[in-house]
Amino acid sequence: MFRVHTADTLPTRHEVAWLWEGMVAQGTLALLGGPGGVGKSTLVAALEVAVAAGLPFLEREVAQGEVIHVDFDTDARLQGPWYPRVAAGLGVNGEALKRIRYLEPEASTRGLTDEGLKALMEMARQGPALVVLDSWSAAFPFVDSRRSDHVAEVMAYLKEIARAGPGVLLLDHTPKPVQGLTALERGIAGSFYKLAGARSAFLLSRVPPKLVEGRDVLKLDTLKNNLAPLEDPLGIERIWSPEALAFSLTDLPEEEARPSKVELAKRAVLEVLEEGPRPRKDLIRLVAERANARERTTEEALRALVQAGAIERLTLGGQGGAVAYRLAGLPQAPLRDSAALRKTDFADEDGRMFSAKGFAENPELAENPPAPEGEVEVEL
Ligand SMILES: Nc1ncnc2c1ncn2[C@@H]1O[C@H](COP(=O)(O)OP(=O)(O)OP(=O)(O)O)[C@@H](O)[C@H]1O
Ligand SMILES: [Mg+2]
Repeated sequence: MFRVHTADTLPTRHEVAWLWEGMVAQGTLALLGGPGGVGKSTLVAALEVAVAAGLPFLEREVAQGEVIHVDFDTDARLQGPWYPRVAAGLGVNGEALKRIRYLEPEASTRGLTDEGLKALMEMARQGPALVVLDSWSAAFPFVDSRRSDHVAEVMAYLKEIARAGPGVLLLDHTPKPVQGLTALERGIAGSFYKLAGARSAFLLSRVPPKLVEGRDVLKLDTLKNNLAPLEDPLGIERIWSPEALAFSLTDLPEEEARPSKVELAKRAVLEVLEEGPRPRKDLIRLVAERANARERTTEEALRALVQAGAIERLTLGGQGGAVAYRLAGLPQAPLRDSAALRKTDFADEDGRMFSAKGFAENPELAENPPAPEGEVEVEL
């Protein structure tokens, strides 16, 4: 059941074979998230061509090899034209494109089935350097990204495919932007379990053009990297011409160059609440663990998130007025529907139940439920 080693016989250093130096390692799963239309597919097409040609990409070495691109998200008419265009941007001739195999699902609406995963595993064993899967939500339309067991199962399978040799890069749409929150703050849907399964994870967002003299600049944040030190975000400029699309590194404007402590705390709050509502006390502790944030920073983040309408503050009337938070904007039935409300029941660490059942059972409240604004009062 176990292979037992004494620690003195274990490997003494991390032998990382990078596919894309410092970013994506061979044999591992990496995640690239970003809002729709931000430029994930174009960026990844350029990385694929760089791998196929064995050329550095964004000033980082790549390992040369075959590439497999599995496209559940769009189709050949949309993705195809990017290849010659980014190849021209990299100064590569069309030969390299022969080393990229573009896989178009025959029935894309069904998503990536067991059969499809097995077929991918077979291909992964034939030694490609990079497998790109575009995208999580299109490939696994029936997986609820808030269900940890579902997400973990898919991630485990993709990790198996990576273990056969290639770097596997999974593209992911980030949740709908919430006004007042940056893409980084909003993070990746179901991020906790997706991030747990990936060795490195990145978030792509667009730098407001007014901050960069109208240029087309993307920001690539590293959310996680198990194999290299965490780095500051990269500024990536896209340079368009009729025949070519080139990518090059550029400095980010000061306000984009480094996320603030409050921004990091906001992201951690949203990640934690994705798993369900939380009493304030637990939330503060979990955010401290995740983002190394002090209580005051988390408080500030919570206030900003409530104000932005991204989360709701629940107060329990009566002694102490305990406070809890939950994500706003999740499908929620009218307040008097107790079956739906039960979904928001949860216990804190002391086993105290937070329940919203009070609405349905208290006739006065059921008749006249409080408006679900920033703050929701729950009378128990
Ligand atoms: N000729 C052009 N000049 C400038 N920008 C362009 C041009 N053609 C396309 N774009 C932009 O490039 C982006 C292409 O993005 P891409 O398809 O890579 O996004 P994505 O993140 O993969 O999106 P999705 O999540 O929808 O798959 C779009 O935002 C589009 O507006
Ligand atoms: Mg895309």
